[in-house]
Amino acid sequence: MLVRYVDVEPLKHETPMLTVGVLEGTETLTGWLAILDTALGGAIRRALSSGDFRGKSGDELVLYGSGNTGFRRLLLLGLGQSDRLDWESVRRTAGRAIRVAERMRLESLSISLDAFSDIDATSTAQAAAEGAALAGWKFRELKTASSTDPPEVTAVDIVGVDDITGVSRAVETGAKIAVATNFARTLQSRPGNVATPAHLAEEAERMAAQVGLDITVFNERRLRDEGMHAILAVSRGSEEEARLIVLKHNGGADGEAPLVLVGKGLTFDAGGISLKPPKGMEDMKFDMSGGAAVMGAMQAIAELGVPANVVGIVPSSENLPSGSALKPGDVIDTLAGKTVEVINTDAEGRLILADALHYGARLEPAAMVDCATLTGSVVIALGHQAAAVLGNREDLVDELVSAGESSGERCWPLPLWDVYREQLDSETADLLNVGGRPAGAITAAIFLSEFVGEVPWAHLDIAGTAYGDGKLPYQRKGAYGFPTRMLIHWVRSRAG
Ligand code: BES
Ligand code: MN
Ligand code: ZN
Repeated sequence: MLVRYVDVEPLKHETPMLTVGVLEGTETLTGWLAILDTALGGAIRRALSSGDFRGKSGDELVLYGSGNTGFRRLLLLGLGQSDRLDWESVRRTAGRAIRVAERMRLESLSISLDAFSDIDATSTAQAAAEGAALAGWKFRELKTASSTDPPEVTAVDIVGVDDITGVSRAVETGAKIAVATNFARTLQSRPGNVATPAHLAEEAERMAAQVGLDITVFNERRLRDEGMHAILAVSRGSEEEARLIVLKHNGGADGEAPLVLVGKGLTFDAGGISLKPPKGMEDMKFDMSGGAAVMGAMQAIAELGVPANVVGIVPSSENLPSGSALKPGDVIDTLAGKTVEVINTDAEGRLILADALHYGARLEPAAMVDCATLTGSVVIALGHQAAAVLGNREDLVDELVSAGESSGERCWPLPLWDVYREQLDSETADLLNVGGRPAGAITAAIFLSEFVGEVPWAHLDIAGTAYGDGKLPYQRKGAYGFPTRMLIHWVRSRAG
């Protein structure tokens, strides 16, 4: 989908459908609405006074143009009350416009920024572009194409009248962020037999070449040479070779401490010998969502030329049972030199992350953030509305909470107190990989914290937020790309 900004005159602009937002409680029409209403002989005023359309959030009305109007359809979308308008409502409104266009089988449409002029123009433009481009994404590559398939919306013009500096740039930024998020969603959606660790590495290589990132991929031989025994231990039961992907963006000064992003890239999690029950196991193709988000974020960071050094690290493997698989009770080595007693092979994410985080910590980053579909426990704690964020620096946790507010991907803190550490005490090794049922998301993060040393670090547990039913207008059932946008936002705000 092509999303761009165009300067137009409301009545001359040629489009199959022009979308304009209407605030709840609008009495006197101003701006575009006044001009459009006059051209339609007062149709908008009549709709409002009939009470059929009141500008409530979710309200929708389609009017039809005449020979005198450039638009064939005028889609009015209720925005709700003006004091509730924010970036997220702009994203959703743009998404709703795409859904209406799909229902009408249109291939293009325009969205006016006029009604949003109360909030900051450039962020509005960025959010509109994001919402449109996110809504337009669909995972079709594994379905046979048919002539009865509905057409795709391929072009969206974000339109305005004033050539406000920065608006067209902001639309470009929003589109790039959404395209990067959609890249993550596509990777997430690919099933385990397609998206293997080697496949993720190939996709990372292709993407890196396209946007100009440095890349190094470790195969199993290299992982052994490096001493990444935890990744290898998880991968032992699988026929697919593990990988560790390292992407580098050198946008900052030489020698400037990097920001490090780490994402769990477990391409299929059957649980290993601690096998998961069959129901819903197919969802475990999404266990590489964190890795996909890091790959997406790195793509956007390169494309936007963010002035910072950023490193993205994705440890990737499968977790399957077999005669060579890791067994409950096995004690394994890690890159950090700590030994781990693996009492449940289904707690594998923290094992591959242990090596990746320690590798990241050796780069002496200014800050390190990991994201992982790590525990069922976080779904019990926060449901599907927020990821958990836990870290060893309060200010870093706060930065991520606010990055999530801006990007529309919420995260909320859980405590990382020392008192939980004893749940990981082992008789045989330095630590257990599981701390029992109580506070499962917290003890998982405590486990990770053992491998980051003194580096400022925070962890996002995205098991409840990486994919879902697709309730928002710009989502679809399946992959969300969460927290690609949050990571991009955080890195950009850090870069100043
Ligand atoms: N990948 C799962 C976590 C998960 C659960 C992701 C639900 C998405 C949705 C992780 O590897 C796992 O199996 N965690 C176990 C840990 C337990 C054995 C301590 C869990 O949460 O049950
Ligand atoms: Mn697991
Ligand atoms: Zn897992």
